[in-house]
Amino acid sequence: MKILASKNLNKKQSIVLWNTNKNISKYLDAPLEKFLKKKIKEKKTLVTIDQQGRFIFILANKKQKEVHLEWEQYRKLGAQIFSTLNTEQLKNIHIEAKGINIDQVSAFIEGLVLSSYSFTKYHTDKDKNKSYLENISINSDLSQENLNEINEIYKAVSFSRDLVNEPLSYLTAEQLGEEIKKAAKEFKFTAQVLGKKQIESLKMGGLLAVNKGSFDPPTFSILEWKPKNPKNKKPFVIVGKGVVFDTGGVSLKPTAGSMDLMKSDMGGAAAVIGAIQAVAANKLNVHVIALVPATDNRPGNKAYVPQDIITMHDGTKVEVLNTDAEGRMILADALSYAKQYKPELVIDLATLTGAAHAAIGEYGIVSMGNAASKYKNKLNLSGNTVFERLVEFPFWEEYGELVKSDIADIKNLGGPVGGAITAGKFLEHFTDYPYIHLDIAGPAYIGKTDAYRTKGGTGVGVRLLYDFFKNY
Ligand code: BES
Ligand code: ZN
Ligand code: ZN
Repeated sequence: MKILASKNLNKKQSIVLWNTNKNISKYLDAPLEKFLKKKIKEKKTLVTIDQQGRFIFILANKKQKEVHLEWEQYRKLGAQIFSTLNTEQLKNIHIEAKGINIDQVSAFIEGLVLSSYSFTKYHTDKDKNKSYLENISINSDLSQENLNEINEIYKAVSFSRDLVNEPLSYLTAEQLGEEIKKAAKEFKFTAQVLGKKQIESLKMGGLLAVNKGSFDPPTFSILEWKPKNPKNKKPFVIVGKGVVFDTGGVSLKPTAGSMDLMKSDMGGAAAVIGAIQAVAANKLNVHVIALVPATDNRPGNKAYVPQDIITMHDGTKVEVLNTDAEGRMILADALSYAKQYKPELVIDLATLTGAAHAAIGEYGIVSMGNAASKYKNKLNLSGNTVFERLVEFPFWEEYGELVKSDIADIKNLGGPVGGAITAGKFLEHFTDYPYIHLDIAGPAYIGKTDAYRTKGGTGVGVRLLYDFFKNY
């Protein structure tokens, strides 16, 4: 995608205007302006004028209770306009937004470009689901640098969506490592991809146990963006669940249809990879490390089974009661590995529990943790800003009691209540630093397009983490 700051408008090009734009009569003749005024009175936020294949789109702001709701309104307007342009197979659009609030303009462009994502790799007919938009020119108060930043975020979200949309037949744990190395080279962060031998010498028992039923070896990737004089003395560590496919293992997924989306069980990994790419591409002055434990979860010949007791990376003994609770097994090793960095804060993202999905659906992220409220507040604020909203669940000690084991230190299954929280409490056992856990089981993957969140992998978490680091 090209996004260019430019004053030049080609007469044949479709154009987006704000109704508050002072020069509006430059673009519309008198009857059109009258028509427009009437529509605006009707409280329409978008008026579309079709001049035989050339469109004039006029946006109006509808006041919302909170400003982040207005930004979301603009992202959705971007999505609506993208859809009209794409139906007509138009490649170019000009935006005339001089003097318009830059947050509104940024949100609009973000919605426009994020809507243009499509996953066409496996279509023989390359025109199927094709996205035509290629060039955006814009006259506004945003600098070319601002526009480049939006473009890099778009690229990172698209990369994250691609990773989620790739099936296991392509994206094994090792291939995920290759994708990480490619991105590291292009965006100039460092990446180390550890293979099975190294994972064995690190004694990552959780990751190795989940991998036992698989034909393909696990990987453990360490990604790092370290500017010369970062604002943070101690690094931020982000950890992403990288289960490249989750069958449930020997405790095979019991409910009809529940396995059908499980190529998306590395949505957390995709989020942290996309986030560090965006941070590096835009050269944020923050030190960030991303950890990605990866494997598929299968019922193979050597697969781990319920009642196995696994010694984890930090020496904790875990009683396995359900092999489908595999995410916490691999994340636990990554969280204990993170201790060596003495991090300022660790955030993990994981498609961890059906319980989180059931609780709030695809509309938000379930969060919990023991980090100071200044971190939680900042992250919540970022969640609202980018509209990847957080809902905090309780993280009381009592829930920790529910994962104590009779025969080992802890068990990988809680009781019948609070499934998302007991999973979080299990993970907290492996931490000794300020910690926030984000369960993205709901929003990571959606069955049908919702405005600029295209169907399939959504890339949720990338914009959230980017905004959080940017505002540090
Ligand atoms: N990957 C699943 C969670 C999931 C469910 C993600 C739905 C996205 C949509 C996870 O590994 C899992 O199977 N969790 C179990 C845990 C249970 C066995 C304690 C669950 O939530 O049912
Ligand atoms: Zn599972
Ligand atoms: Zn899983």
